[in-house]
Amino acid sequence: MAKPMYTTHLGMVDILPDEVRKWQYLENLIHREARLFHFEEIRTPIMEQTELIVRGLGQLTDIVSKEIFAFNRGEDNYVLRPELTAPVVRSYVQNHLDQRGGAQKLYYIGPMFRAERPQKGRQRQFHQFGVEVIGSNDAVADVEVIAFMIHIYNKIGIKNTTLKLNSIGDPESRDSYKQALKDYLKPNFEKLSDVSKKRYEKNPLRILDSKEKEDQPFIKSAPVIGDYLNEESKSHFEKVKHYLTDLGISYEEDPYLVRGMDYYTKTAFELISPDLGAQDALAGGGRYDLLIEEIGGQPTPAVGFAAGMERLLIACEELGISLGDSKSVDVYIVTLGDAARNWGLTKLPEFRKQNISATMDYMGRSMKAQMKDANRENARFTLIVGENELNEGSFTLRNMKESDESSLTFKAILEKLSNL
Ligand code: HAM
Repeated sequence: MAKPMYTTHLGMVDILPDEVRKWQYLENLIHREARLFHFEEIRTPIMEQTELIVRGLGQLTDIVSKEIFAFNRGEDNYVLRPELTAPVVRSYVQNHLDQRGGAQKLYYIGPMFRAERPQKGRQRQFHQFGVEVIGSNDAVADVEVIAFMIHIYNKIGIKNTTLKLNSIGDPESRDSYKQALKDYLKPNFEKLSDVSKKRYEKNPLRILDSKEKEDQPFIKSAPVIGDYLNEESKSHFEKVKHYLTDLGISYEEDPYLVRGMDYYTKTAFELISPDLGAQDALAGGGRYDLLIEEIGGQPTPAVGFAAGMERLLIACEELGISLGDSKSVDVYIVTLGDAARNWGLTKLPEFRKQNISATMDYMGRSMKAQMKDANRENARFTLIVGENELNEGSFTLRNMKESDESSLTFKAILEKLSNL
């Protein structure tokens, strides 16, 4: 085949019709289950102000320092959203959603953009679904968010997952931990990677998230934040664990889980799948009690998660879980001659009015070729019409699976197919 003149950008893929069916199934499931949890959908623009993302996620994070797609146009800075927590919070503040009263239980589905090195399960345009509960500092909110995340995977049939859990404390706990971490790393400062050296003064917690080889031995035996949590952070973490146990959700504590954004406080979690290979994080999230204030709102506690939809689909494939139906149409009208074709075209809307999916040939093909096409399109029935049928007002309805045919009026056909 000739090389195409234009192709998608690196790490960005088309989702073709056979795949889209799975996406639609997944999206419908998410909408349905979100309603069960009484979450409301929010949709924000694909582009945000660069400053929001830099400030929200943190200058020294990998995402902001290496992975954002950002550009200027006139005076304005634009960034393709790399995630949705900061944008949803922006929207909450901009639109005064606090005035709706109570905690806002929001969910979303959509594309995100990060200029990472593409590999299986890692793209530059990828999709997330997620939840943000804004306005509650209660551990019930943390646990409901986690429960929803796990509920979705369970509904789909992905049950072999591990929930990793940590608390990275409030600012007070973190300050004492940061100092302890710096004291511990100081004697080996020269051996740290260049990125970690940069992070040492300003943001030493980020070092725990380093993927650089030379940092790993130091991360492995670093002090753990759990030993530095103050009473308030400890008690919140205990409640989260207690409620999880009450709900029968098992977890593994991971004292080095810090996540990739700076906005987290207290609870941090990730859902890992052994079926994913190197990119094994299905979903992640946590509490971010300071973010709303950081971007100009009133101090407001919040918690949320986001899940990678491509990774979910990869896990389904690995596990042999099929999502959605294969392509099919209820009835394909096969016509012979112009008058029959005309008749067929006017009958399509009558089927659709009855919720019966219907199609016909768009290519002026022979009857034989139309039958072949009906097979390829997985038609359940073909309605065969030529000049004789038109004159007699009686048409052949063929059940494609059982290969049996009956001769019926159009009214009888409509009735028969509506009752299936
Ligand atoms: P995150 O861990 O950066 O968190 O992303 C969540 C999930 O998105 C990951 O676990 C992964 O499944 C998927 N993901 C991330 N990057 C890629 C990529 N390049 N290709 C494919 N999938 C990817 C967040 O985005 C936070 N906003 C989560 C959150 C919500 N925290 C609080 N509320």
